[in-house]
Amino acid sequence: MSTIQFSSLANRLRRTEIRELLKLTRMPGTISFGGGLPDPSIFPYEPVKKASIRAVEEFGRQSLQYSPTEGEPFFCEQVAAFMNRQGEKVRPNEIFSVASSQQGLDLLAKIFVDPGSAVIVERPSYVGAIQSFRQFGADLHGVAMDNDGIIPDRLKDKIDDLIHRGNRPRFIYLIPDFQNPSGINLSLKRRKQVLAIAAAYDLIVVEDSPYRELRFEGDLIPSLRSLDPDGRVIQMKTLSKFFSPGFRIGWITAPPEVLEKLIMAKQGTDLCTSAFTSIMTACLFQDGSIERQIEISKQLYAKKAKAMLDALDRYMPDADGLSWSHPEGGMFLWLRLPECIDTTEMLYDAVEKKVAYVIGSCFYSDGSGRNEIRLNYSYPTVEEIDRGIRSLAEVVESRIHEEVTSAHRS
Ligand SMILES: Cc1ncc(COP(=O)(O)O)c(C=O)c1O
Repeated sequence: MSTIQFSSLANRLRRTEIRELLKLTRMPGTISFGGGLPDPSIFPYEPVKKASIRAVEEFGRQSLQYSPTEGEPFFCEQVAAFMNRQGEKVRPNEIFSVASSQQGLDLLAKIFVDPGSAVIVERPSYVGAIQSFRQFGADLHGVAMDNDGIIPDRLKDKIDDLIHRGNRPRFIYLIPDFQNPSGINLSLKRRKQVLAIAAAYDLIVVEDSPYRELRFEGDLIPSLRSLDPDGRVIQMKTLSKFFSPGFRIGWITAPPEVLEKLIMAKQGTDLCTSAFTSIMTACLFQDGSIERQIEISKQLYAKKAKAMLDALDRYMPDADGLSWSHPEGGMFLWLRLPECIDTTEMLYDAVEKKVAYVIGSCFYSDGSGRNEIRLNYSYPTVEEIDRGIRSLAEVVESRIHEEVTSAHRS
């Protein structure tokens, strides 16, 4: 038998730790705070049924056909109208449809990353982006965040250092709204500072923003794209979090020369996004179903976030170094445990108690964050949130107790 010879890209492929750990958490009866899934109980079945019939009856000749790689014109028109209603100035011919944001991340890596290319990410950052960029051999550099998002001085130092070492970053990847995993928002002041730094060094900024529409508290902060005077922001949007991940549809706006490369890269990947899904999506934007769904999701997730915060207050022990974020939107809450706790080891105890989370270290390009965890509140029910947090608090309490006891012994 001949030896199978894989490409260097294939040889870089790794199963993500998060997927392996999520398998562990799918045991029957386990309450999972692990995924990043919308609540299926609010999926808009009737509007989707209506839109699918319309996509066949009214648009059959288009929806069952290939569509342009840039995107189905009706989709681009409706998405642009939606984005304009959201305060974004965009024309239909600036919208490029993708099979959801994950495809967008893959295409970005395809056009920007050579093995060893420097890419700047937040610390922590979205595990799927880390994975996509790494597959193409990116040399990822994390920049620390605080409660206002990425720290501008640190960003500047990092860029200076990389340029000094002859590895000018290809782009800065940010999730400015309800960041996955931390739930943090990049403040308005910081958005302007980040854009000024990007302009000073003439760098591209990628604004990946799937959670922006899910704000249930506080004021909307202008997007990086809308604040950018130079057209250096690539903005990535998806239907996954506020409507349906099953649609696998999203869109990108980018500077024209970047868009052209992305379109060519997509041709080699899948020729075009599904015309049928694009047309259904356009129908659902046009009849207001998507904006109604955003309202429904926001109301429900506000209730669930509150349930999680209440449960954390009620059940978590008083301990130095134990704290959690207070999200104003999105799907996640970030929990920091005392430094002595290893959340990967703790996961086995948690799974035994039938509760699961995602370990923090998955989200760091350098493996740190061992004492942190991400908790999702959009998927479990309010009752499960209460029960799950109570079990998690028991696990945390006994871990802290064990660590303190063994520290006294040694
Ligand atoms: C920040 C971020 N980007 C992109 C994605 C991918 O989303 P999708 O491919 O479903 O659009 C996710 C999903 O969790 C995410 O959190």
